[in-house]
Amino acid sequence: MTKSILRALAGETLTTPPIWMMRQAGRYLPEYKATRAQAGDFLKLCYTPDLAAEVTLQPIRRYGFDAAILFADILLLPQALGADLWFVTGEGPRLSTITNGAGVAALRPIEDIHETLNPIYETLRILTRALPKETTLIGFAGAPWTVATYMIAGRGTPDQAPAHLMRSQDRPAFEALIDVITHATIEYLSAQIEAGAEVVKLFDSWAGSLKGQDFIDFSLIPTQKIIAALKARHPHVPIIAFPREAGDHYVGFAKATGADCVAIDNSVTPEWAATHVQKDGCVQGNLAPQHMVTGGTELIKATKSVVQAFQNGPHIFNLGHGITPDANPDNVQIMIDTIRG
Ligand code: CP3
Repeated sequence: MTKSILRALAGETLTTPPIWMMRQAGRYLPEYKATRAQAGDFLKLCYTPDLAAEVTLQPIRRYGFDAAILFADILLLPQALGADLWFVTGEGPRLSTITNGAGVAALRPIEDIHETLNPIYETLRILTRALPKETTLIGFAGAPWTVATYMIAGRGTPDQAPAHLMRSQDRPAFEALIDVITHATIEYLSAQIEAGAEVVKLFDSWAGSLKGQDFIDFSLIPTQKIIAALKARHPHVPIIAFPREAGDHYVGFAKATGADCVAIDNSVTPEWAATHVQKDGCVQGNLAPQHMVTGGTELIKATKSVVQAFQNGPHIFNLGHGITPDANPDNVQIMIDTIRG
């Protein structure tokens, strides 16, 4: 029997949509906090295969989600390319910055990334053995633009201003960086697939800050290149693209990039996405993560309306972005019972 997520990704309309959540392994779960404390810090957790596999499995055990997403981070790839990376508690990631072409040229050769990333592949191999047979294993990477915004600024930024500045003032260096990340991402995701990932997802969390032709050049085209290369090597592995806050650019994104599924955020309604995006194939989304904090009848109402809006086509139920640390784990169960009940 084919796994429900793979059926939806192949374009099948299911009576009950398969379910998983972005950041389903995370700080809203007491068992995650315990394992993270055991690891010492977040990066140690990512690079310790037994512990990374354990936190990946925790939400599967607790809720029986239809997919498990590898526990890792999009910023491990810049680290493998030679950037310094650390996490400041309560603030987020910090990296050494890239400010010019010399910084791009000084990155490590792409073929060397696996030296750093081998523990991630080992986590996937452990999960392949440990997951229930009906659960799909999802690997992932950041899309080039989103990863570049962190490599250029050295941290998360509300408006990605440093990356936009480099794009406009030193276009050759910016394009060289996007190109390195694009090719490194192809190798990274290929290795994840070889280690057992059955589906891969590209997170372009800051796609919404690229407008017009810049969206085409730096979100759509790099995504298309990565998908084309992966499909040439692994034709049967479905790919989910998440150009977050793409708005009108969601329309036609699957066709233009070759993605098997487009993940939708909360800036568009499920009704709009059903009409304009689901007509081309599977969509994933898009309950607002805030409902996992607030709960109540609004959670049930909103969950039902997402299911209903997408019920006439292929759909994977998810949130519009990651679940937040202040979410109540009971609300996740209520969401699942509402969908499956
Ligand atoms: O979804 C999952 O459960 C799988 C694991 C996963 C993490 N990060 C674990 C994580 C995935 C898929 C990511 C992706 C990621 N990481 C993105 C793209 C998706 C998105 O959220 O837009 C981005 C932009 C990052 C970079 C990153 N990692 C930031 C900005 C932060 C700090 C913000 C925060 O939530 O603390 C992280 C840390 C991080 N990545 C945590 C987790 C569970 C929290 C770390 C902790 O335990 O302290």
